[in-house]
Amino acid sequence: MTCSAWAGRFRVVAGVVPVFGLVFAGAVALFPGAGARAADDTPVEVQAVDALNQAFGVHPGLRANHAKGVVVEGSFTATPEAAGLSRAAHLQGRPVPVVVRFSDAGGLPGVPDGAPGNPHGMAVKFHLPDGSETDVLGVSLSKFPVSSVAEFRDLFLAVAATKPDSPQPTPIARFMASHPVAARALAVPPAVPASFASETYYGVNAFLLVGKDGHKQAIRYRLVPAAGDVHLDDATAARQAPDFLIDEIKTRLASAAGGAPVTMRLIAQLAEPGDPTADPAVNWPEDRKLVVLGEITLLHVAADSAAAEKPLLFLPDQLTDGIEASDDPMIDGRDGAYAESFSRRSH
Ligand code: HEM
Repeated sequence: MTCSAWAGRFRVVAGVVPVFGLVFAGAVALFPGAGARAADDTPVEVQAVDALNQAFGVHPGLRANHAKGVVVEGSFTATPEAAGLSRAAHLQGRPVPVVVRFSDAGGLPGVPDGAPGNPHGMAVKFHLPDGSETDVLGVSLSKFPVSSVAEFRDLFLAVAATKPDSPQPTPIARFMASHPVAARALAVPPAVPASFASETYYGVNAFLLVGKDGHKQAIRYRLVPAAGDVHLDDATAARQAPDFLIDEIKTRLASAAGGAPVTMRLIAQLAEPGDPTADPAVNWPEDRKLVVLGEITLLHVAADSAAAEKPLLFLPDQLTDGIEASDDPMIDGRDGAYAESFSRRSH
């Protein structure tokens, strides 16, 4: 789908719900089973990538999801509190280099950065002193719509099956009707930020921080701008150029060289006993303790971002001693989907 076709589709009519760069008819009717697909032997994470390709098209060399993005380099320094929670090498206080990729969600390489309802991503790769890597990924959705890779697949199959002339109830309307958690999570589209570095990204899945004494604490990550969130009103957002977020971070970091750095805090939301760790669509209560693990200082955009993003593979389960996956099966499933997308985009 071209960008202008996308924009045309976006403007269709009032009362639509824009999500992930596409437009869903808002009116829902009870019609369970939307997006269901016949069982076959294809692993569900591969089916999820197939569904993304069906929804957004295949764009050779690009990611099946979060296709449009920009690579930024910087460094991370942990707080003393981080070492109290985890023995991980990058959480002991010595600065480590990081590579960050900011992105627009969805698989459309021409999606406007300010597309209403389209969340953004922030992926961070920490380069550890022993030469290994560990990753943290976040998305600017405070409520995640689905609990499993299978539901994610069904969401995007429903997106793919919904056409501007689909009769009501459309496949996506049926999906929303049969998945009230997704309908609630996506009811309020995320606001358009003034900058990739002025919105909060949620890690969604739970991980375990393992201390020097072996104590395990379940957490969910957040990546939060040190200067606070700044969002645009709808009229201002609508006036922005298609690449305004990518251009903004390039300009800001170029002028920040030697001046004010752009910082994002890595925060852990600490679970309390009984908080569910295996369902990423269930938020923990907002009064849970937040601990600042450290600060990411963004220094410069990669000299050739398009070349830099190709070999980059962020994996939710790329962990290091001192951090473990929780019992959330989505973590492993996402790893499989990202590897599948990487393999397709590397050929
Ligand atoms: C069932 C759930 C999910 C599936 C199947 C899925 C699938 C994918 C795929 C296929 C990619 C492209 C990977 C690549 O080619 O390198 C991707 C990228 C991404 N996903 Fe997910 N995703 C899921 C959930 C999430 C969640 C919960 C988050 C937030 C924590 C997230 C954040 C991201 C980000 C930030 C990127 C871009 C990474 C980059 O810049 O390279 N995703 N996702």
